[in-house]
Amino acid sequence: MKKTYFPQQFLDKYFALLGEEWEKFFYTIKRKQPKSFWVNTAKASIGETCDSLKAKGIKFENLKFHPNAFSIDLTEPGKLDEYTNSWISVQEKASMMPVVVLGVTKEDYVLDACAAPGMKTIQLSNLAGRVLATDVHSKRMEILNKTIKKFGLKNVEAKRIDFRNLKRNKRFDKILLDAPCSSEGLVRKKREALIDWSQNLVKRKSIEQKQFIVHAFDYLKEGGEMVYSTCTFAPEENEEVVQYLLRERNGSAGKEKFGRAVVVPVVLEGIKIRENKLCASCVRLYPQDNDTQQFFFAKIRKE
Ligand SMILES: C[S@@+](CC[C@H](N)C(=O)[O-])C[C@H]1O[C@@H](n2cnc3c(N)ncnc32)[C@H](O)[C@@H]1O
Repeated sequence: MKKTYFPQQFLDKYFALLGEEWEKFFYTIKRKQPKSFWVNTAKASIGETCDSLKAKGIKFENLKFHPNAFSIDLTEPGKLDEYTNSWISVQEKASMMPVVVLGVTKEDYVLDACAAPGMKTIQLSNLAGRVLATDVHSKRMEILNKTIKKFGLKNVEAKRIDFRNLKRNKRFDKILLDAPCSSEGLVRKKREALIDWSQNLVKRKSIEQKQFIVHAFDYLKEGGEMVYSTCTFAPEENEEVVQYLLRERNGSAGKEKFGRAVVVPVVLEGIKIRENKLCASCVRLYPQDNDTQQFFFAKIRKE
């Protein structure tokens, strides 16, 4: 089996960031990631899907934070007929959470700003009225289009565009900004995920993410909500980005609510969420708490 690659600078940074949690954290991210799936209700109901899996004697369990989300006791759920028929998408537990936290309803027009390959587009499509899914890269756009076709997502319009160039008169009820990041969190799934990691990469991503978050916020209707998410733990790409928006658009996080951009607290049933001292109500999902990959998300309301 290939050994996980950890750059020394990454280890030093995480050791400082995690303190006494370091050992638990590294123990968890070196272990295999448990499998989970999302029931794609564009193709089958939750009941039909559960009955079909039960009939095969497969062990699975609802993840309490959403009726469509399940853990499954299989190493390759992608080989199931239920996946081939697009009744389920195979998706890591933490990566399902940003959409759940966004709290999308059938009345909502939603922007999925950085959408490819479209795992979260499937979730959004199941829950929203209409979705505009944008991505800037042509190859990734092809994959997004395949996802939309395979999973039968009829209420999704896909557009290849830098989402910052969307027409200004469009305003959305909800926005998901699942930002391109240094992808540190993928190391639990892909042992070589950190080969191109460097502190320079983190800094470059942070600059881009700061532009992205302000643009996304400006596309929200008043009273609308957005979720900013990344699969990295770097504070430069997370809390620093949210704080930047709060400064740029006059906002607040924490008990003293003021300004136009307000970071709102989130609760996910069955999921341990710690207090975040760097930015109140921003969620840093520690792998050791819920057996996930590392993830970050913040829900922001436009007042
Ligand atoms: C973290 S991935 C998104 C994963 C996706 N949300 C999912 O769950 O399947 C980030 C995506 O942002 C796209 N991207 C980067 N810059 C962009 C831009 N300016 N406008 C739109 N998409 C962009 C990348 O091509 C990449 O596909």
